[in-house]
Amino acid sequence: MTMNVDGAPIEGEPKPGQCLRTFLRSRGATAVKKGCDAGDCGACAVLVDGEPVHSCLYPAVRAEGRTITTAAGIAQDDALAPVQEEFVDRFAFQCGFCTPGMVVTAASLTEDDLPDLDRRLKGSLCRCTGYRPIREAVEHAVRRGCGGGGECDGVCGTTASSLVPGEDRATASSSPAATASSPNPGAPVVGTSARPPAATRVVQGREPYTFDTWIPGTLHMRVLGSPHAHARIVSIDASAALAIDGVHAVLTHEDAPATLFSTARHESRMDDPRDTRILDDVVRFQGQRVAAVVADSLAIADAAIEALKVEYEVLDAVFDPEEARSGAAPVIHPGRTPEDGVLDASRNLVASWKGGYGEVDSGLASAAAVATGTWSNSRVTHAQLETHGSVGWIDDLGRLTLRTSSQVPFLVRDELAVILDRAPESVRVFTARVGGGFGGKQEIFTEDIVSLAVLKTGRPVAYEMTRTEEFIRTATRHPFRVTATLGADADGILTAMDIQVLSNTGAYGNHAIGVMFHGCAESLEAYRSPAKRLDAEVVYTNTTPAGAFRGYGLGQVIFAVESAIDELALKLGIDPFEMRRLNAVKDGDPLGVTERQHQDGLIFGSYGLDQCLDLAEAALARGNGVSAPDGWSVGEGMALSMIATIPPRGHHATASVTARPDGTFLVAAGTAEFGNGTHTVHTQIAAEALGVPLSLIELRASDTDATAYDTGAFGSTGITVAGKAVHAAALALKARLDAGEEIPAEGLVGEGSTDGMIRSLAFNVQAFRVAVDLDTGAVKILQSIQSADAGVVLNPAQCRGQIEGGVAQGIGSALYEEVLIGDEGSPTNPAFRTYRVPQSADVPDTEVYFAETSDELGPFGAKSMSESPYNPVAPALANAIMRAVGSRPYEIPMSRDRVWRLASAAERVSG
Ligand code: FES
Repeated sequence: MTMNVDGAPIEGEPKPGQCLRTFLRSRGATAVKKGCDAGDCGACAVLVDGEPVHSCLYPAVRAEGRTITTAAGIAQDDALAPVQEEFVDRFAFQCGFCTPGMVVTAASLTEDDLPDLDRRLKGSLCRCTGYRPIREAVEHAVRRGCGGGGECDGVCGTTASSLVPGEDRATASSSPAATASSPNPGAPVVGTSARPPAATRVVQGREPYTFDTWIPGTLHMRVLGSPHAHARIVSIDASAALAIDGVHAVLTHEDAPATLFSTARHESRMDDPRDTRILDDVVRFQGQRVAAVVADSLAIADAAIEALKVEYEVLDAVFDPEEARSGAAPVIHPGRTPEDGVLDASRNLVASWKGGYGEVDSGLASAAAVATGTWSNSRVTHAQLETHGSVGWIDDLGRLTLRTSSQVPFLVRDELAVILDRAPESVRVFTARVGGGFGGKQEIFTEDIVSLAVLKTGRPVAYEMTRTEEFIRTATRHPFRVTATLGADADGILTAMDIQVLSNTGAYGNHAIGVMFHGCAESLEAYRSPAKRLDAEVVYTNTTPAGAFRGYGLGQVIFAVESAIDELALKLGIDPFEMRRLNAVKDGDPLGVTERQHQDGLIFGSYGLDQCLDLAEAALARGNGVSAPDGWSVGEGMALSMIATIPPRGHHATASVTARPDGTFLVAAGTAEFGNGTHTVHTQIAAEALGVPLSLIELRASDTDATAYDTGAFGSTGITVAGKAVHAAALALKARLDAGEEIPAEGLVGEGSTDGMIRSLAFNVQAFRVAVDLDTGAVKILQSIQSADAGVVLNPAQCRGQIEGGVAQGIGSALYEEVLIGDEGSPTNPAFRTYRVPQSADVPDTEVYFAETSDELGPFGAKSMSESPYNPVAPALANAIMRAVGSRPYEIPMSRDRVWRLASAAERVSG
């Protein structure tokens, strides 16, 4: 059969049942992305004879004789269609994995669709942006009505240079009007909204992601998951599977090294419990890997998985964290010791943190008001649109090579070397552009088993997780139960804080310790109090593992602390903003949970919390003119958060900048781009330091062969660590150039590095005005505001996007998202159809304001601002809902049924 794809004929016979997406991708049309297999996300959208379809649901055979248009073909040659131009100019993408599907869907819309735009975009998920720039880009492109690449007619009243509300609050040099590269050598580029270097390729679908290039002869992997929550594998009979034509290998625990490791990656491998094998003879959660099949095709691998015969000895399981630590529960990791990173295996206890100072009991006893309660959060999934996956092979030098969707290629390389007992130099790990991570790709979920398969078969092997596997076999946010008891005197001054935390890490301890420590630290340190007590534990259960996720535990504890602070304000009749001003840390205050002194290496590089409170309060007072539906109850709420800008105990980066004889510059930095915008900012930093236009800067990143060591992209370190190393490298090069050194043929190099040992603090304040339908529990956000202390804002439009995306993810966690856990401890809703990632209609525009500060540590005075915007969202929404319904939420998500019950309970009390 023949079809016309982007103006060229494609011939071939689809396999039986093959969808159009898979057929197109197999023919090189990689602008068509794979985000799910169920028509839920829209990443695979194409136009068939001008009509948008989800190609994962469209049978390839139906496309015979039809015209297929992908993002690579909606404009002629290298030109951009209007909607693509608007996506570039308005920063309507971050990781960009949803973007090709978005732009072809948008290209099919007309002005008639605009009044109902949210519904038109319903089948197109974006996990990164918060949708505001996408809506603006689509509206503007549709209203241009000028065909390909024409001039703006101004009908919609917005232009790309009016992007940032509160821009006058950004630093003096941060005008967002400047886009793209500056044509003038020496013109400032830091502080301008420079476009991402890959912008044009992303909107055309030409920027390659992990599986957009393919080595001929690559084998495919499928994984068999455990049907039991806790079991010992007695035997695996693989004979029938191996007899299937096209099956190359079946991997079981007998093939796996004995070395224990953690899927979590940190600068030190000792930071996480070593409790995992690539394939184990004991399974500890339903869905855990039991075996893997490597075959010529996925269909053959699926058939071989069905042919495996496994005999299990089922073991007792425990699913509740309180029960798990009782001492009477089944022991999930017997034999593990503190030397393995497990504090007390007999109680399933991974770690604890107990401490404090002052007289907490007397502080609470003498308080004029006490607020107490237990707050809990559900599991949520990262839902990055590119699933986890790796492809591995042996290169010409005999080295194990992996192209993987990872935030931490160097840490993956080093851990693979340990697990497989190889020299690090014999392993190369690199990434293409990563299609979203949010912390979920700070783990080894595919690289280990792909490596094992490559070494066993000697062939290239690919393992791309399905969306279902993402839910059951990666990691979720840690569910916390936080009991907070806070006291204050009649003037609103805190007298004591008592916080008890129970974290459920699931079957493995990846990030268990770090998330508990980080979640507790800055949540308590954000407030002055003469007495603090902390009692925190994190335990194993036979449930899906939890792991790193944007905010890294802070969102869970802040939900409790900010709700309790709000309750105290209500009881004492004090304005909630004023309550924070009375009690929040001030510049230069000592910081500490376990003692009242400065933490090692943690300083106020700048302090903008006071400005953030003022900015959010003023915006809320101004309002935005959006009124509540008739009969709905209205409430306002706010919350603050503080975050260390770098993880503790070191985060290393070394970068280089090379001047070439042709006048261009090559920046080499090890950290990965996964939508956090570091590539953009690194080119800005280098251009600014060298005094050259952006157009002369080329960037090479996230390849253990091509760049020097970088711990990786987490903890928002892209600016504060890797960016600082790039800055130092550019300055070193400039010094050599200024000294008159000649540029040799191989280039003149400047190098810079940082260890990230001294850390600063960033701040966020979130405010909401909401309306609640007391009859149904429906919540409508009328106004959303976030103010942030990001130091000097290096790229205002991009930084605004990070905040909007964080707020959108926070709204999802707070109102909609919940991985439901069944009787066997694993997800019962492992699909976007049943797990509600916010759609465009669910996310309002957020007003973003920046404090004016300059951090003494960050490059050009900047701080990190990728993960922190998430943290204050849930408590701010809870506090607003509390004021609307008269009853306080203690559980997220605050789903419609839960809010209805709160409203009904309040009505019963008052009535
Ligand atoms: Fe939309 Fe990342 S930019 S999913």
